[in-house]
Amino acid sequence: MSLIELKHISRSYTMGERSFYAVFDINLNLNEGEFAVILGPSGAGKSTLLNLLGGMDSPTEGELVFDGENIAGYNDNQLTDYRAWNVGVVFQFYNLIPTLTAYENVALMKDVRANSGKKSVWNKGYVEVMHPEDAIARVGLSERMHHFPSQLSGGEQQRISIARAIAKNPRLLLCDEPTGALDTNTGREILKLLQDLSHREGRTVVMVTHNSACAEIADRVIKVKNSRIKSDEWIENPKDAMDILW
Ligand SMILES: Nc1ncnc2c1ncn2[C@@H]1O[C@H](COP(=O)(O)OP(=O)(O)O)[C@@H](O)[C@H]1O
Ligand SMILES: [Mg+2]
Repeated sequence: MSLIELKHISRSYTMGERSFYAVFDINLNLNEGEFAVILGPSGAGKSTLLNLLGGMDSPTEGELVFDGENIAGYNDNQLTDYRAWNVGVVFQFYNLIPTLTAYENVALMKDVRANSGKKSVWNKGYVEVMHPEDAIARVGLSERMHHFPSQLSGGEQQRISIARAIAKNPRLLLCDEPTGALDTNTGREILKLLQDLSHREGRTVVMVTHNSACAEIADRVIKVKNSRIKSDEWIENPKDAMDILW
């Protein structure tokens, strides 16, 4: 079943006299439970596309339909609400709050959802937040839960940021170059975790990368270049994340 449909989606920027497209005329359906990778060189428009999917940005043209709702024309409050209910995001540099412990960073997500209230159009009655302990256990860091980010390695910080992202039980987990700051072995472990979240728990995961080795573990590889989709292919037998080389 398709969770999100992009219809002629573009995002343009105007700089002085000139305007240009960061993404142009994207048509794409993403299915529930799929592990999709968006692959392309730097500047191709990958982050822009991910930000549009996650309601961190709005398209300048086109329709973006999530579970039947066109979010393309949403205002800031509506987008905040959309994100609170539907989207978990993992960034290259973790974006944890340094003055909060790992546990507190993850627990914040509960507040985000609670603040958005019961009357949200996205409250369909079945999306429970996870206990922070459970989200942290899921990424294998229970013993370190009361550490501060500076007391954790890069890989551990990324695990906590994944715990934070899944704590909302989001319909969509978005990852922007999640292994970009990590060494090969730690990066593989993070990819394995993302692959398991999709393959074992049925979560919809969309990961952006410029690294073609990372794409071999996905169910689907969407290549972007010069703001456009160049190809879109399903992988019959994705590699296990622990077996890739880069
Ligand atoms: N906020 C912005 N203002 C102006 N230009 C932007 C902005 N965000 C991205 N761009 C431009 O859009 C293009 C695509 O950027 P981006 O989506 O970040 O690419 P990628 O993630 O594939 O490296 C680049 O040329 C970038 O400089
Ligand atoms: Mg980027």
